[in-house]
Amino acid sequence: MPGSSHPAGSPPGSVESYTVPMAETPPKPGEWAVVTGANRGLGRAVAETLGRLGFRVLVGARDAASGEAVAAAIRKEGGGAEFCPLDVTRETDLGRLESAIRKSGTPVAVLVNNAGIYPESPRLRQSGMDSNPLRVPPTLLAESFMVNAVGAVRTIQVLAPHFRSGSRILNVSSQMASLARMAGGSLGYRMSKTALNAATRVFAQAFADRGILVNSVSPGWVRTDMGGTEAPRSIAEGIDTLIWIATDPHFGESGFFWQDRQKIDW
Ligand SMILES: NC(=O)c1ccc[n+]([C@@H]2O[C@H](COP(=O)([O-])OP(=O)(O)OC[C@H]3O[C@@H](n4cnc5c(N)ncnc54)[C@H](OP(=O)(O)O)[C@@H]3O)[C@@H](O)[C@H]2O)c1
Repeated sequence: MPGSSHPAGSPPGSVESYTVPMAETPPKPGEWAVVTGANRGLGRAVAETLGRLGFRVLVGARDAASGEAVAAAIRKEGGGAEFCPLDVTRETDLGRLESAIRKSGTPVAVLVNNAGIYPESPRLRQSGMDSNPLRVPPTLLAESFMVNAVGAVRTIQVLAPHFRSGSRILNVSSQMASLARMAGGSLGYRMSKTALNAATRVFAQAFADRGILVNSVSPGWVRTDMGGTEAPRSIAEGIDTLIWIATDPHFGESGFFWQDRQKIDW
């Protein structure tokens, strides 16, 4: 049964207000799972895992060679996958994504908004870049917002006609976005991921009547190009909650922030 107990248009009250009844049909094999930034790191692992589970995976990536390679690896294991060139900040790419899904006639059961940048990361910092929040350049702030927040929002917007009741949208966030735990540094990354979390709440309400579940997920600190080799978590550990929310037939909640299969503070 679609809908939530939260009246449309009114401000959110308790977090429970977005809980959606669990009678929605869970994502099924053969339906689309769209993953952005799927050519490496967490996105690649999510795409390959959903491929193994029988989803038709739309591998969205900026880099054609590595994106095609992920799609080919999924097909080699017997899964269904197609590569789509996708820079989430490019409207032409977003239009091509929408067109590919529309022409397929198959709904999007899962969207994982994984594409992200962390330009202030000590590992990725451009030489000479000043990450002091008192001097961080507006270009860095703008770029972080365009990829981490606006890119995810635009992907949701263009795919909106193709979700069905029970579809699941996962916004890959970070504990660094939690206002409850907010600390110093990484201003652009923190602000942009907090904005992504705001989008999770807004879309959870916007889609409540259609029974579409929207959640933010923190993977924890994971050993990827972004996380670095000193991170405590493996990629498998990092994607566990994402795969659980994407596929668990009993999952029925929307508008929350998750890590390790638990709700965490915004
Ligand atoms: N690793 C961690 O410890 C950690 C912790 C918390 C949250 N996260 C989040 O988890 C997600 C994945 O991170 P990761 O660790 O796997 O990082 P990663 O290895 O650096 O991968 C980032 C992915 O995002 C893609 N991307 C960047 N900008 C893009 C754009 N404009 N359009 C489309 N794709 C774009 C990259 O594509 P290219 O190959 O073309 O650059 C790459 O596929 C990110 O949202 C990140 O913020 C990671």
